[in-house]
Amino acid sequence: MPSLGLALVLLVSLVSPTSSCTEQEKSSLLQLLAGLSQDGGLTTSWQHDTDCCTWEGITCNQDRKVTDVSLASRGLEGPISLFLGNLTGLLRLNLSRNLLSGGLPLELVSSSSILVLDISFNRLTGGLSELPSSTPARPLQVMKSLVILNASSNRFTGQIPTTQCVSAPSFVVLELSFNQLSGNIPPGLSNCSVLKLIGVGYNNLNGTLPNELFNVTTLEHLSLPNNRLEGALDGISKLTNLVTLDLGGNELSGNIPESIGDLKRLEKLHLEHNNMSGELPAALGNCTKSIYSCSKLTALRLSYNPFHGQLSEKIGNLKSLLFLSLANNSLTNITRTLQMLSSSRSLTTLYIGCNFLHETMPEDVSIDGFQNLQVLSINHCSLCGKIPDWLSKLPNLGMLFLQGNQLTGPIPEWISSLNFLFSLDISNNSLTGEIPRFLMEMPMLE
Ligand SMILES: *[C@@H]1O[C@H](CO)[C@@H](O)[C@H](O)[C@H]1NC(C)=O
Ligand SMILES: *[C@@H]1O[C@H](CO)[C@@H](O)[C@H](O)[C@H]1NC(C)=O
Ligand SMILES: *[C@@H]1O[C@H](CO)[C@@H](O)[C@H](O)[C@H]1NC(C)=O
Ligand SMILES: *[C@@H]1O[C@H](CO)[C@@H](O)[C@H](O)[C@H]1NC(C)=O
Ligand SMILES: *[C@@H]1O[C@H](CO)[C@@H](O)[C@H](O)[C@H]1NC(C)=O
Ligand SMILES: *[C@@H]1O[C@H](CO)[C@@H](O)[C@H](O)[C@H]1NC(C)=O
Ligand SMILES: *[C@@H]1O[C@H](CO)[C@@H](O)[C@H](O)[C@H]1NC(C)=O
Ligand SMILES: *[C@@H]1O[C@H](CO)[C@@H](O)[C@H](O)[C@H]1NC(C)=O
Ligand SMILES: *[C@@H]1O[C@H](CO)[C@@H](O)[C@H](O)[C@H]1NC(C)=O
Ligand SMILES: *[C@@H]1O[C@H](CO)[C@@H](O)[C@H](O)[C@H]1NC(C)=O
Ligand SMILES: *[C@@H]1O[C@H](CO)[C@@H](O)[C@H](O)[C@H]1NC(C)=O
Repeated sequence: MPSLGLALVLLVSLVSPTSSCTEQEKSSLLQLLAGLSQDGGLTTSWQHDTDCCTWEGITCNQDRKVTDVSLASRGLEGPISLFLGNLTGLLRLNLSRNLLSGGLPLELVSSSSILVLDISFNRLTGGLSELPSSTPARPLQVMKSLVILNASSNRFTGQIPTTQCVSAPSFVVLELSFNQLSGNIPPGLSNCSVLKLIGVGYNNLNGTLPNELFNVTTLEHLSLPNNRLEGALDGISKLTNLVTLDLGGNELSGNIPESIGDLKRLEKLHLEHNNMSGELPAALGNCTKSIYSCSKLTALRLSYNPFHGQLSEKIGNLKSLLFLSLANNSLTNITRTLQMLSSSRSLTTLYIGCNFLHETMPEDVSIDGFQNLQVLSINHCSLCGKIPDWLSKLPNLGMLFLQGNQLTGPIPEWISSLNFLFSLDISNNSLTGEIPRFLMEMPMLE
């Protein structure tokens, strides 16, 4: 009897009208499907006689209203349906990494519920800015709740939109990199009072950084590389919360203002490939007296320089170093270099090729460490010696480059114990013996 009762309860809840999404929401989603020329196999799950809350990629709230449409990387091809605007409870729409084309429908832009809109990595065209202003009936009633807009890697044209700065008081992320946007950085961005990220790199923006931009003091990430921005950087220090400042690949001029030192949270500064002049300000100079005082440095690339002699033991101060490239210098004493670096717990990538000419590959058992090393390149050094046994103790090694040396002896058997190794180059040495069979049986090796 109790099991019959349970069955009845189940039956009742199945037929109860509140247990399914509304016909209107279901038909809006089916309209999206119908408009696609490639639906990535969604039809098998999106059946009109089932509850759309159970469909793949769809999430509903307790009231059976659709809140999430998550259809990233599904191979969807065709337009974004304007009927998605009928999903009045929609909070998050993620259509990234598909082959969607056409414009962003006005009906969607007028949504007052959407918080997160991710349409990045598609083939969408048209303007992002014109859309809102062409709804005279609902001026500025666009995307009232919007917090995150990611429309990067599309083919959008026209100007950077700013209406969301006024209509959506909680707007935080504007990510539009890799499009074809043009014109100036709009002063209207200063109405975005809680904006934390502006990413409009790799577009065709020109003009100067407007003073109004420096009023958006909530900004943490300002990334506008590879445009045609000009003018000086004066005023940037007002953005005291900046963590990332990337203005590389523009036409900026003038010097780096001394006040850049006021940006106490700054972690990344990219100003390469501009037309700037003058001296590096002292604020940055604390790091230039000796590179070894930058204890938080995570990546150091010094390859293709005429550095010579032995590496300073102060390299050990760089406790956070993940990536180190010293390739193609004139460094000497490979034994000492490896001993100093092997104690680094953080290091994952080490390039030291084209140095240490005609030295001997150390067999030294005191090379102990490199616990996290994933990439090791000691190529084109004309080193003699053998493929050394200490390499067998690097459990995480994925790439090993030893080509262009004069190493002798056989290919050691322990190579098969490097379970993560997927790339190995030991060409152009003087190795002898057979090419061992186990090399063909290593699962990861490409
Ligand atoms: C659904 O969306 C379409 C296209 O925007 C619109 O014509 C229609 O009125 C909407 N239906 C409802 C019930 O809102
Ligand atoms: C959208 O989905 C992709 C793939 O799952 C994910 O990487 C991305 O972070 C999502 N976007 C947002 C804004 O959460
Ligand atoms: C789009 O940008 C948002 C916010 O920066 C991010 O969370 C999301 O992962 C991005 N989407 C993709 C596909 O990378
Ligand atoms: C900020 O928004 C208001 C209201 O729409 C507008 O009048 C003003 O011009 C905007 N500010 C800027 C700098 O564009
Ligand atoms: C920006 O480029 C447009 C053409 O795309 C041009 O009309 C405009 O004068 C340029 N503005 C500045 C400030 O260089
Ligand atoms: C920046 O903000 C200050 C005060 O908040 C205001 O007086 C000034 O006019 C603003 N500047 C611009 C260029 O918007
Ligand atoms: C680079 O800056 C100098 C002034 O420092 C200026 O004379 C020159 O025209 C600028 N070149 C370009 C390509 O902007
Ligand atoms: C450089 O560092 C020293 C001590 O670490 C500090 O007293 C000084 O203020 C710093 N200089 C600048 C310009 O940040
Ligand atoms: C190393 O750099 C020099 C120039 O600094 C170049 O001539 C040489 O070809 C480079 N060697 C290799 C192996 O790339
Ligand atoms: C190389 O470094 C080692 C210490 O690791 C040292 O004993 C040796 O003398 C050095 N060789 C030269 C030529 O300086
Ligand atoms: C092999 O290495 C030697 C130096 O050890 C170099 O002279 C030669 O060019 C290299 N050959 C190839 C094919 O890379």
